[in-house]
Amino acid sequence: MRRIGFVESNRSGSGFDALRAARGLGLHVTFFSCGLDRYHATPGGTEVLETCVDEVVACPTHELEPLLEAVKAVDAAKPLDALLSVAEYEVIQAAEAARQLGLPGPDPAAVRIARDKAAQRRRWVERGVPVPEFRVVTTTGQAARAAEEIGFPCVVKAVDETSGAHVVRCTTPDEVAATFTAIRSATTNRRGQARSPEVLVEECLVGFEVSVEVLAEAGAVRVLGVTDKILGGRNRFIELGHSFPTALPDAVRCELESAALAATTAVGFDLGIAHVEIKYTGAGPKLVEINPRPAGDRITELMDHSFGQSTMELLIRQYLGESVGDAGLEPRGGAAIRYLTADPGVVTEVTGLGIAAALPGVREAVVSVAPGGRVDPLRVNEDRVGHVLATAGDAYLAGRIAEAAAQQIVVGTRADASPMVR
Ligand SMILES: Nc1ncnc2c1ncn2[C@@H]1O[C@H](COP(=O)(O)OP(=O)(O)OP(=O)(O)O)[C@@H](O)[C@H]1O
Ligand SMILES: [Mg+2]
Repeated sequence: MRRIGFVESNRSGSGFDALRAARGLGLHVTFFSCGLDRYHATPGGTEVLETCVDEVVACPTHELEPLLEAVKAVDAAKPLDALLSVAEYEVIQAAEAARQLGLPGPDPAAVRIARDKAAQRRRWVERGVPVPEFRVVTTTGQAARAAEEIGFPCVVKAVDETSGAHVVRCTTPDEVAATFTAIRSATTNRRGQARSPEVLVEECLVGFEVSVEVLAEAGAVRVLGVTDKILGGRNRFIELGHSFPTALPDAVRCELESAALAATTAVGFDLGIAHVEIKYTGAGPKLVEINPRPAGDRITELMDHSFGQSTMELLIRQYLGESVGDAGLEPRGGAAIRYLTADPGVVTEVTGLGIAAALPGVREAVVSVAPGGRVDPLRVNEDRVGHVLATAGDAYLAGRIAEAAAQQIVVGTRADASPMVR
């Protein structure tokens, strides 16, 4: 039996899907984790750990040395055939560990660049990939100067987070100072890793956003597909919907795909699936970021519905050393997800789920809060309160169905005197 190791998992879709795909391929699965609580707290987490994981190895996962020690001990007992992470915060350590074991994996140096929004931008500038105007700053004085030079509104963001945490549209010098201070006052990122001293201040791009899902193998990068995105959230950028594949006209789609391929090649990402976020502005495509791992937010599942096959299975086969170049990945339909939001406060009622779920085309209608629970202001993706996922003959129709169903769901709240500060 072939053996695969996963270093942690994301909880936004592709992580659990990858574990299921490994089980589907009949692999022995070892799960390296510093703690399972957050998986058990995620809907479906307990079930996936129980049914898809053969062995849990408790070890520090966010630093290379202790992880490597644990991985080497497992490998020495019975050799691993693959080791990977589909969790953003652990991709570097997993790539380094795979390299040291002589297993297939992306170039750790490329993953390191792709995990750091400042490093990405420096590389893209060198290679002529279009980016927003930006400054990398380390002091409040530099942040203020950068904002003044770039102009308002600008975006201030951490270089080492995900889920929209610490990404803020700022319209005044005070907001820039406050955001910079909030980012720098934490000594670690949300996974407890040492916070980068660098902060980005950049032009606030105006345009619609897509993500381009790409697959790298044997020195070549190809596009799996383009995802249309809906953003919301006042001065934050919260993902409120995704549709796959894009409904954009071919000419625009091709421009976006070319930018994503150039961006991926420039950072040197050479094995696996990456998720490239781009805004299409008045001056054409501009890169937002590259993530050296598959998309979260259930986008890989939308792709699976569209392609009629598991993209996470393809990814695992790559890490097992197989070529997936011949996988026929033609969209046969479309899929869409729309996220639910609610006013901040204490939840008083949840209604309409049954009606939403009964609409033909709806695959899932889920509310993640219950009466008595709390809704926080919309500051990161986790503050959303549920979703509707639909499939149809094409993505546009799937999106319309998901929106119609979502409209049936009401998450009522009453104002809470003590909203959480994040
Ligand atoms: N310079 C910018 N101009 C306009 N919007 C931006 C800019 N930078 C980021 N955003 C918006 O904020 C969102 C989150 O930013 P970014 O992708 O850098 O952070 P993240 O925390 O890694 O996000 P996620 O993990 O959710 O993909 C982007 O998808 C985009 O909509
Ligand atoms: Mg992003």
